Amino acid sequence: MHFENLVSGSASALLSGSLIAFPTETVYGLGADALNQDAIMRLYKVKARPTDHPLIVHISSMERLDQWAEKIPDYAMELARTFWPGPITLILSRTNLAKDFITGNQDSVGIRVPSHPLASALLTEFEGQGGLGVAAPSANRFGKVSPTTADAVVEELSDYLSPIDLILDGGTCEVGVESTIINCTEDIPGILRPGAVTATMISNLIGLEVNQIATGSNKSTIKAPGLLQSHYAPMAKVFLSTTPNLGDGFIALSDIPTPPGAIRLASPKNNKEYAQFLYQALRLADTKQLPNVIVIPPTGDDLAIAICDRLEKCTYKS
Ligand code: TXA
Ligand code: MG
Repeated sequence: MHFENLVSGSASALLSGSLIAFPTETVYGLGADALNQDAIMRLYKVKARPTDHPLIVHISSMERLDQWAEKIPDYAMELARTFWPGPITLILSRTNLAKDFITGNQDSVGIRVPSHPLASALLTEFEGQGGLGVAAPSANRFGKVSPTTADAVVEELSDYLSPIDLILDGGTCEVGVESTIINCTEDIPGILRPGAVTATMISNLIGLEVNQIATGSNKSTIKAPGLLQSHYAPMAKVFLSTTPNLGDGFIALSDIPTPPGAIRLASPKNNKEYAQFLYQALRLADTKQLPNVIVIPPTGDDLAIAICDRLEKCTYKS
């Protein structure tokens, strides 16, 4: 099918209640019309996600931000201007367009403008046809590893989607880990989930200190992502920095040699590649039905922070 037809067909399918999985620069999302409660309820069901976990609303550009959010602090506008389209999500006070079924009954809403060309085209077309926003969590079952290829979405969701739904293929995601989530409902920003845009980049830009671990101290008890024991987890048990046994998977930067008997799952050359291929490597462990994966985490104050955050959440807890 021609690109334009695919995009316009997908946008109108969204408007009539279909779920459309689509690539973003971070991970694949499972999209639904953010105003269509039935579609959103089906989305929660497909993901097996508890309905009090809020969804991020995706829009084509920051021009449409004030439809969804109000009382936007200056620093948030600056973040939007600088990093959108791109891998950050801003948590803001909601307008009444953002219903409880999107926000998990909170007074805030998460908004993101993705940069992947297919995501961008889909959102622009969706808005051109009268849509206002696409809610899109990562296109995985609840608690599992986010998909970074269309094949991984098929693996995760094909048993649960219905014939009116669609999976768009936009190649391998460039960033590979989910967006940085920034709580912008307080005087200073707080990082709820680290990502490619780091706390240092944010504080350098806006000249404000940044809360690194947001605990949701404000009245609405922010539901910080991944507070659960196990998140972003493959079937294999993940251990950090231990010695692998014969037949265990092994993930580390390329300059670290594979220990004898271990099965190398990824050899990223730097932290950027590490982020891009981490989730694929964890999936590969499951495809190969490995019992354990040993991971040597990267170091640094760049993407390493996001990688280590995800690794800590997916490690095996006995
Ligand atoms: O990179 C990403 O952000 C991807 C792509 C598809 O855009 N999306 C994504 O969505 O990771 P999801 O639903 O898998 O993770 C979003 C996290 C959830 O853990 C949710 O709790 C948090 O964002 N979130 C959404 N709205 C929020 C809100 N109003 N307050 C606090 N946290 C919120
Ligand atoms: Mg997710």
